[in-house]
Amino acid sequence: MAYSIDVHLSAEEVRSQMRADALHGLRGQFKSIPPVWFYDERGSGLFEEITQLPEYYPTRAERALLHEHAGSIAGLAKADTLVELGAGACDKTRVLLAALREAGTLSRYIPFDVSDQFLRGAAGALADEFELLDIHLVIGDFHRHLPEIPADGRRLVAFLGGTIGNLDPRQRARFLFDLNCTMSSDDTLLLGTDLVKDRHRLVAAYDDAAGVTAEFNRNVLRVLNEQLGADFVPDRFRHVAVWNEEEQWIEMRLRAEEATSVSLTGAGFTVTFEKGEDLLTEISAKFTPARVEHELFEAGFVVEEMWGAGEGEFLLTLAHPLC
Ligand code: SAH
Ligand code: TRP
Repeated sequence: MAYSIDVHLSAEEVRSQMRADALHGLRGQFKSIPPVWFYDERGSGLFEEITQLPEYYPTRAERALLHEHAGSIAGLAKADTLVELGAGACDKTRVLLAALREAGTLSRYIPFDVSDQFLRGAAGALADEFELLDIHLVIGDFHRHLPEIPADGRRLVAFLGGTIGNLDPRQRARFLFDLNCTMSSDDTLLLGTDLVKDRHRLVAAYDDAAGVTAEFNRNVLRVLNEQLGADFVPDRFRHVAVWNEEEQWIEMRLRAEEATSVSLTGAGFTVTFEKGEDLLTEISAKFTPARVEHELFEAGFVVEEMWGAGEGEFLLTLAHPLC
């Protein structure tokens, strides 16, 4: 076998967590659903398409930074293990793996993601390219399963793609604190965050002309249909991306084009949408370097180096636990 795998989320657990999220998120005054449910196999594939869209600059900007600075990152981290949270297609990872191999320290790669089948496919392809690498997949939810990630060795823990911006400030604080608790003083964190910029560019990145992001957004309704026996009609919902200036984040919503009633058979309830009512599906927070440093510090990390902070579009931060 090309890789080993630990699964901490069974299909049954996924369904019961989704049921709880639906009960909590769809019955209140303002409807929302956590973004983790975008990523079934179809959703992960659609996200890959997003990363190639002309409007979606973050992936290209982050990859360019990695190309430029992977050598420095590998030199500072001196890691034998690369852990990657929310690894997805494991694509930008190749740059980091190559640099760690070049530095002569690399022996193991641990991608962690909730998207089981998609991660298996991505890791399989990677195993062919990095023949001598010990690849160990961990399937779990980073809000619950961080302590299950192997902690031996000297680790570089990468959290890329601006995914941390998909957590709200309280979730971020909690997540970074929990992560800090699982890291030893030899470990290093590499965090990718998108930066605040012109709002037209921001909105375009989440509302592309070809409509891929709209399809990705509506995919969450298909997932709810499949997993919870719901009867959402995705085409009755319009994709909306708005910049929330006060909170400094993009909001992704699905707006009911007409009044509609949806029954979630598997969760045992029915929900009604008024015409024009929104379902909040995701936030994507945008940062300043000072804010990243502050949030890391509050969670017990010290920043070692930042790349992209000047005129850059995107920021890479290397930090280690205070300990
Ligand atoms: N790192 C890749 C993918 C980013 S998309 C990149 O930079 O392009 C976000 C990834 O995080 C997806 O692969 C998704 O499946 C995963 N993800 C989202 N929420 C998660 C959660 N709660 N726990 C674990 N993985 C999660
Ligand atoms: N981590 C990505 C981001 O915030 C996720 C993402 C990109 C996304 N485009 C999206 C999520 C559209 C939902 C809808 O940039």
